[in-house]
Amino acid sequence: MKKHIVLLPGDGIGKEVINSAKDVLSAIAEEYNLTFSFETHEIGGAAIDLYGTPLPDTTLEACKQADAVLLGAVGGPKWDQNPSHLRPERGLLGIRKALDLYANLRPIKGFKNLLHSSPLKEEVVSGSDLLIVRELTGGLYFGTPSERRENGQIVVDTLYYSRKEIERIVDKAFQAARQRRGHLTSVDKANVLESSKLWREIVEEKKAQYPDVVVEHVLVDAAAMKLITNPSQFDVIVTENMFGDILSDEASVLTGSLGMLPSASLREDGVGLYEPVHGSAPDIAGKGVANPVAMILSAALMLRYSFQLDQEAKVIEDAVEAVLDSGFHTADLQVAGGRRVGTFEMTKLIVDYIKTQNASK
Ligand code: NAD
Ligand code: IPM
Ligand code: MN
Repeated sequence: MKKHIVLLPGDGIGKEVINSAKDVLSAIAEEYNLTFSFETHEIGGAAIDLYGTPLPDTTLEACKQADAVLLGAVGGPKWDQNPSHLRPERGLLGIRKALDLYANLRPIKGFKNLLHSSPLKEEVVSGSDLLIVRELTGGLYFGTPSERRENGQIVVDTLYYSRKEIERIVDKAFQAARQRRGHLTSVDKANVLESSKLWREIVEEKKAQYPDVVVEHVLVDAAAMKLITNPSQFDVIVTENMFGDILSDEASVLTGSLGMLPSASLREDGVGLYEPVHGSAPDIAGKGVANPVAMILSAALMLRYSFQLDQEAKVIEDAVEAVLDSGFHTADLQVAGGRRVGTFEMTKLIVDYIKTQNASK
C-alpha cells in the first residue's frame, strides 16, 4: 500500500513533534511493508514569514492532493499583534474550512500507568474513556464578519449554525456512540442561546434513527464540572465548535497532560487532517522537551481513519503505552519515579519498541 502524506509542521513545538510522527510512521512502513511518501509545507506563522499569508495556495493544493495531512501546531508571540487576517490561527481555521473538516474527534483515555499523574484523584480519573466530537467548521469561529465599530468600542462576533451543519455532526456522534458504549451526551447552552435550542431539537429528532443509543443533554457549564468530578459517566460528547475547544483542553487533565491528546478532523469522502489538541507551546518551544505522544497518536488515528490500517494504528498505540508503562515520561507529566526524557528520546523509545515487537513475532 502506497500513501502520500502532507506534513504541516507549523510553529513552535509543532516543528519538533511532527518529526516524531514521521519517524514512527517510517518505522511502521518498514516493519509492515507499507510505503509512505512525505511532502512538507508551511502553515501559520512560518507561512506568514515566508509567503506573507498563513495559508498559502501551494499548501492548500498539496493538502487537497494528499491521502492525508498531519499538522503540528500554529501560533506564537511573534505574530500575536498581527491583524486578524495575518494571524497564524487563521491558517488553521482556513484549512479546516477549505477541506470542510467539520468533524473533529478527540479521544481521551488515560493510560493506566499515568493515572496518578493527573492532578485529579486517581479514583476519579480511573475508568474514564470518552470521545469528544467537536463541530469544527461553524459557530463563533466562522461568524462573518467579526468587526469592531465605534472606534473599536463595540465588537461583534456572530454565532451562526445551519440545520444541515448541526445534523451532520450529530449524525457523526450518534454513529460513534453506536461503535462505542452507546451513550451520547449533547452539550449545549439551550437555556440561553438560540443556536443551542436548534442543536437540542435536532438531537431529539435524530434519537429515533438511533434507538440503540441513550441520549442526554447537559448544559455546558455543568458539563465542565462533571468532566472533572465524574468523567467516567461520559462516553461520547457532541458539542459545537467553541464549547468543544474548551472542554477538550479541560478533559486533557484526565490524561495528565495536554501533550497526550490526539485528534482527527474529518469529513465524508475527503482528505483527513490529524493534529494534536495542544498548541505551539511557546514556553517550551526549541528546548527539545515537548511531549510527542499527542502527535504520534494523531498519526495512529490517521492510519485508522484514512487508511483503514487498524492493526498498525494499534501497534503505535500499544508502543506508546508500553514505553509509558516502563516509566519513561516527558517533563509535562507529573510522574513519580521513572525516567524523564526529551522529545527525541521518547520518540526513539517508541520507534525501537515497534521494531523489536515486530522482530519478536
Ligand atoms: P498550548 O497548547 O500551546 O500550551 C498550553 C500549555 O501546555 C503550555 O504550558 C505548554 O507548554 C503545554 N503543552 C502543550 N503541548 C505540550 C506538549 N506536547 N508537551 C509538553 N507540554 C505541552 O496553548 P497556549 O499556550 O494557550 O497557546 C500557544 C499558541 O498555540 C497560541 O498562539 C495558540 O493560538 C496556539 N494554539 C494552536 C493550536 C493548534 O495549532 N491546533 C492549538 C492550541 C493553541
Ligand atoms: C485547537 C486550537 C484552535 C481552535 C485555535 C488555535 C484556533 O485551540 O485546535 O483546539 O480553537 O480550534
Ligand atoms: Mn484548543
